[in-house]
Amino acid sequence: MSWIKEHSLNWFQSLALRIIKTGKVPKHVAFIMDGNRRYANKQNLEKREGHSKGFDKMAETLYWCMDLGIVEVTVYAFSIENFKRNKEEVDNLMDLARQKFKRLLEEKEKLMDMGVCIRVIGNLSIIPEDICKLIAEAMTVTKENNRAFLNLAFAYTSRDEITHAIKDIIQGVKDTDILPEDITEDLITDCLYTYKSPNPDLLIRTSGETRLSDFLMWQISNTCIYFTEVLWPEFSIWNFLSAIFYYQRCYPHLQKNRSLKPIMHNNRVSMYIDKLHNKRDSTIEKIYLSAVQS
Ligand code: FPP
Ligand code: MG
Repeated sequence: MSWIKEHSLNWFQSLALRIIKTGKVPKHVAFIMDGNRRYANKQNLEKREGHSKGFDKMAETLYWCMDLGIVEVTVYAFSIENFKRNKEEVDNLMDLARQKFKRLLEEKEKLMDMGVCIRVIGNLSIIPEDICKLIAEAMTVTKENNRAFLNLAFAYTSRDEITHAIKDIIQGVKDTDILPEDITEDLITDCLYTYKSPNPDLLIRTSGETRLSDFLMWQISNTCIYFTEVLWPEFSIWNFLSAIFYYQRCYPHLQKNRSLKPIMHNNRVSMYIDKLHNKRDSTIEKIYLSAVQS
């Protein structure tokens, strides 16, 4: 299964999508794709197959998002907490990731044609090296694309993300690139894994769990959150459009709290931020180069 599954909707589904599209469409939607194992259990499948169906649903949902005009999508593909699952399940999830990133690279022309930029947000130092190389390659070859953005949260938790931001800031202070009084909310925002993205407008979590599971905790203080009972592999176009309709009803309230001020740093902080971002980009490029040269 490709990463973006071109799936024709029937005329009625298509009409419903066009009607929803006349209203406010979120620019950035995040998903907690929960319920794969319960789905597998319900269908008498192996857990592994539940996750594989979960990937297929992600590919179908990405197509719906593009069709609706959503520019950016962030999905919770693997939490650092998921490493605590039994070895067989962790290995199966890593195998799925390996196989899907290889597939992505085989089909990169399609992503280039669609203008999709792939970004992985998470702690790359705890991901198996071969997967890290595939990720670096996917990010490097698609980095100039700007028609749509797919952020995969992989080996991610917000606590880890914030811890890393704090460590980077402390290093900046030690190196005298910045001063303690430069530490602001805006500086922390620019040191997160998500620094390239605006905050999500809508977060959707499936499977009836009403928790946030350490996902984008810094970024969603003013995000519309939609919980639905449906298990992720069963998420349908109707569930998707219901979530968008819910967002359209929330939108006027969200606007009241939204800060429209762009982030402005002083010169010292701007130089530090540029240095940090360049360092992160060059780390990815180095992993990519080591992969293509080996
Ligand atoms: C949560 O369901 C889902 C996950 C832990 C994995 C989600 C991953 C995908 C849908 C595919 C990701 C894509 C790549 C490239 C790897 P669960 O296991 O918590 O199920 P449960 O809530 O029923 O127990
Ligand atoms: Mg779960």
